[in-house]
Amino acid sequence: MFSKKTITDVDVNKKRVLVRVDFNVPLKGDEVADDTRIRAALPTINYLLEHDAAVILCSHLGRPKGKPDVELTLRPVAEHLAELLDEPVAFASDCIGPVAEEAAHELGFGEVLVLENTRFHPGEKGNDPEMARQLASLADLYVMDAFGSAHRAHASTEGISNYLPAVAGFLMEKEIQYLGQVISDPQKPFIAILGGAKVSDKIGVIRNLLAKTDFILIGGGMANTFFKAQGYPVGDSLVEDEALDTARELLQVAGSRLRLPVDVVIAKRFDNDAESKVIAMAPVPEGWRILDIGPETVAAYDKVLHDARTIVWNGPMGVFEFPKFAMGTFGVAEAVAESEAASIVGGGDSVAAINQSGLQDRITHISTGGGASLEMMEGKVLPGIAALEDK
Ligand code: 3PG
Repeated sequence: MFSKKTITDVDVNKKRVLVRVDFNVPLKGDEVADDTRIRAALPTINYLLEHDAAVILCSHLGRPKGKPDVELTLRPVAEHLAELLDEPVAFASDCIGPVAEEAAHELGFGEVLVLENTRFHPGEKGNDPEMARQLASLADLYVMDAFGSAHRAHASTEGISNYLPAVAGFLMEKEIQYLGQVISDPQKPFIAILGGAKVSDKIGVIRNLLAKTDFILIGGGMANTFFKAQGYPVGDSLVEDEALDTARELLQVAGSRLRLPVDVVIAKRFDNDAESKVIAMAPVPEGWRILDIGPETVAAYDKVLHDARTIVWNGPMGVFEFPKFAMGTFGVAEAVAESEAASIVGGGDSVAAINQSGLQDRITHISTGGGASLEMMEGKVLPGIAALEDK
């Protein structure tokens, strides 16, 4: 059960509502390249509009250095939102100060305003109380719907709740319900699939999930570090030497529950056109590097996933942006989609792989949070959630 108040627990009618959304979306020039996160915020925005609230949206975009950066303006996102809502969306070129105050003041009930990138001010990441107070002064109520940013204790995600009543939006509620349920009470067999470049990013997740899962299936660059920890030469493959001791310790604790690829695709260069071949896992020759898991591994992982009741997946199995090294990731995507298990996919690359394969409708829940979903899987309390009012 979700223990925080949501927008349905408070009166939003004729209220000025500041909603923190995660509109940190990829841009191509001044167009939104993937609007998944914007669409995911629509249920909350529409609910507020239907209840005649004045909806003020704020978000960060990218990682500007605490000052304005023309490349990272939210203006194209506001324009895209207007298209999705089929309604005008106002834009304020600052998120605090006179420009924001005037725009918020002029906003009518049943209308939407997007504020400029919160990270154009150093106070955002610094969780500056003055910035939080100024943001709060724009509204009567704060709604946190930025699940993807809930692991950040910033002025617009955490600090602001010291100055306004703070409740969750629908996206936040949905994400926490799915992920929380899986982590606290998963149906077994429970299988985690972890990939991506670095073991160091996922040590906490592996430790926490080892206590709950039946198997953890490993792929992607992080598998190389485990191979090297087992004593295999890995040629020119990407390896995190500083994580070797931890990898050895995890292998020892996990035993056979941590499954590594049994074959891999190796290539001469980091390039889609590079000479490549599949080898059973054995020493990788000098001058070659691992760029994907092999077909035997996909088949072995498929078998495990077939019987699963719960699956979480975060991180690609190989360099799937090169079609030649995408078979592992797409093969696993298919196995997850075909399984009858409750499936949760998080992390930009694994979600992109699911979307590219057109399998999104066969996944129980596609999370909008990369880092946030990983921190939840580590068993951490997310500051953007902790700050909300309890039911
Ligand atoms: C994300 O994309 O994971 C969130 O928007 C958080 O972004 P950040 O890692 O720059 O804080």
